[in-house]
Amino acid sequence: MQTPVAVQPQNAPPPAEPHPLDLVSLGKIVQIREVLLRAEAAGQRVFRLESGDPSFSVAPHVLDAIAEAGRAGKTHYIPNNGIPQLRSALATKVKAKNGLEGVTADDVFLTNGAMHALYATFGALLEPGDEVIIPDPMWTEVAENIRLAGGVPVGVPVRAGEGFEYSPERVIAAITPRTRAIFVNTPHNPTGAVLSRATLQALVDTARAHKLWIVSDEAYEDVLYEPATHVSIGSLAGDYAEHVVSIFSFSKSHAMSGLRIGYVVTRAALLHDRLPKLLRCTINGVNSLAQWGALAAVTGPQDHLPKMRDEYLVRRDLLLDALTGIEGVHPFVPRGTFFAWADLDESLYARLGVEDADGLSRALAAQGIGSAPGDAFGNSCVNAIRFSFSADTKMVREGSAALRSALTGATPLGANAGAGRGPGAGA
Ligand SMILES: Cc1ncc(COP(=O)(O)O)c(C=O)c1O
Repeated sequence: MQTPVAVQPQNAPPPAEPHPLDLVSLGKIVQIREVLLRAEAAGQRVFRLESGDPSFSVAPHVLDAIAEAGRAGKTHYIPNNGIPQLRSALATKVKAKNGLEGVTADDVFLTNGAMHALYATFGALLEPGDEVIIPDPMWTEVAENIRLAGGVPVGVPVRAGEGFEYSPERVIAAITPRTRAIFVNTPHNPTGAVLSRATLQALVDTARAHKLWIVSDEAYEDVLYEPATHVSIGSLAGDYAEHVVSIFSFSKSHAMSGLRIGYVVTRAALLHDRLPKLLRCTINGVNSLAQWGALAAVTGPQDHLPKMRDEYLVRRDLLLDALTGIEGVHPFVPRGTFFAWADLDESLYARLGVEDADGLSRALAAQGIGSAPGDAFGNSCVNAIRFSFSADTKMVREGSAALRSALTGATPLGANAGAGRGPGAGA
C-alpha cells in the first residue's frame, strides 16, 4: 500500500498545530473486532462480546412503516432538521417520558445516531481549547468527538467502590477557566452504572454555579434492570434547562443501530442557530426512510422494549455468573446498558501469562472471545476489561463458558486459537 502524501506546496512550513483527525484513533474495540471478523471468515467460532450492537430485529411495525414510506415515494430530500411529524412526536415523547418541560418540535434536531449528535453538539458548542469534563472510563468516541471539535476532554475518575457515581466534588475540582461543559452519560457505557437523582441534581447545581453547559448522552435510557430507573438530567434543571443539551438514540432502545438515527434536544438559541448549519453541511437531513421508521417506533406499540430488557437480563446474568468467583476478577453488576465491566488484579496477568489487560484482551481475541480492555476507555482504568452482552443469547451463553474457562486457566490462553472451526473450514 502506498504511504499517503500530504499535498502542500514545496517548502511550506509544517503546520503549527496537528490536524484534529491526527489526534483521533480508530479505536481498540475496532481493532479487536477486526481480529474476530477475520477469524470468523477463516472458519473459527467467535464470540462477539466486544461491541454493543443489539442482536434483536427491528419491530415489524417499524419495518412496515419504512416499506410503506418507500412505496409512497417518501424518498426525496427532507427538511434539514428532521421531518416535522417526527420532531413533533419526539417533543411529545421527551416531555412525557423524560420530563423535559416546554420542549417543542423546533427544539428537536434529527441526527445520524447519537454519534453524530455528539459530533454536532460539540462542533456547535466548543471554541478551540475549550475543556469538557467527562467520566473516566467513558466510551471512547465522546473524547474523540470533543477533540474533533477542537476541545480538550478532561477525565474525572469514577470508581467501582462508589458504584461508578460521577462525584460532583471531583467534577468541581476539575473545573478551570477553560471549562465549557460537563458531559453526563447515564446509563453509562462502559460500566453499566446508572446515576442517582441526587448526583444528577448536584451536577446541575455545579453547572449552574459555574455557568457551564451540560451535555447529556441518554442513548441507553431504555436498557435498564429493575429497580434502576432513568432520570433525565434536563428534567432537574428548572430555569437552567436551556443549558442542558440532551442526546437520544434509536440504536439501543429500538435495536435500530444500522438505521443510524438519533436526536438532540436543546432550547438554547445558540444551538438553534448553529446546529442547522452543521447538519446541513454534514448530512443535509437524516435518511428519510429511517425517519418514517423512527416515527412508527416512537408512536407505535412499545411492547418490544420490555421483551428486549428481559432477554438482556438473562444474558447479563449468564455473563456475570461466568465472571464471578474467579481470583483477580471483580465484576460490577450493571444496572443498565448491555455491558459487564470487571476490575482486574495484576496477579491475574501473571497467572494467565499475559502482560496486562490489553494483552489479556488480545489473547482472548486469539481464542475467538471479544472484549475491550480498560485503557480503551480512559487513562484511569488500565486494570479492567469490558464485555458486551448485546449478542444473541446462545452466543452470550457459549461465549461466557469459553470466557470462564480462559480466565480460570482451564483452557490455557493461546492454546485454543484455532479451536471450534466450523465444517468446511480450512485446516
Ligand atoms: C454512550 C453512547 N453514546 C452514543 C452512542 C452512539 O450510538 P448511535 O450513534 O448508534 O446512536 C453509543 C454507542 O455505542 C454509546 O455507547
